[in-house]
Amino acid sequence: MSKTPVQFRHNGTDVAVFVDGGANLLTALREGVGDTSPKFGCGQGTCGVCTVLIDGAPQLACLTLAESVAGRAIETADGLKSGPNLHPLQRAFMESFAAQCGFCTPGMLMAAKALLDRNPAPTRADVVEAISGNICRCTGYEPIINAVLAAAGNRQRA
Ligand code: FES
Ligand code: FES
Repeated sequence: MSKTPVQFRHNGTDVAVFVDGGANLLTALREGVGDTSPKFGCGQGTCGVCTVLIDGAPQLACLTLAESVAGRAIETADGLKSGPNLHPLQRAFMESFAAQCGFCTPGMLMAAKALLDRNPAPTRADVVEAISGNICRCTGYEPIINAVLAAAGNRQRA
């Protein structure tokens, strides 16, 4: 099958990958770019583990055609830390015990980042709404909600 070249920005770096016609962004990121932080869960848009940001908005990479992101900016959990420094959300997840098996964590982090980028002082209801498309089978959600609220609070105090 012939491959199509697609160029986009990945966590601040321009990348080019070859994708099969109809390939999704999740495959392009994991197999083309080598970024395995977006996970494959359901593959049909119901679990949220593949959540990435496209031009700042949370999107499901499993339902996004790779060719449709040409020229756009993709952010994944792999790009959250800055050198050795964790992103405030990553630190808050750690301190709030918001990850157990960790499978949902990259998608949760990106959904939360999109929220805090557009609303630095979210209410609990805002957080619940923002992560409502992301399934966690381990934590019961409370530690995750608390972590996002803590990250928002820390950011405002900083
Ligand atoms: S793998 Fe994309 S929503 Fe489940
Ligand atoms: S920590 Fe295991 S699925 Fe969320």
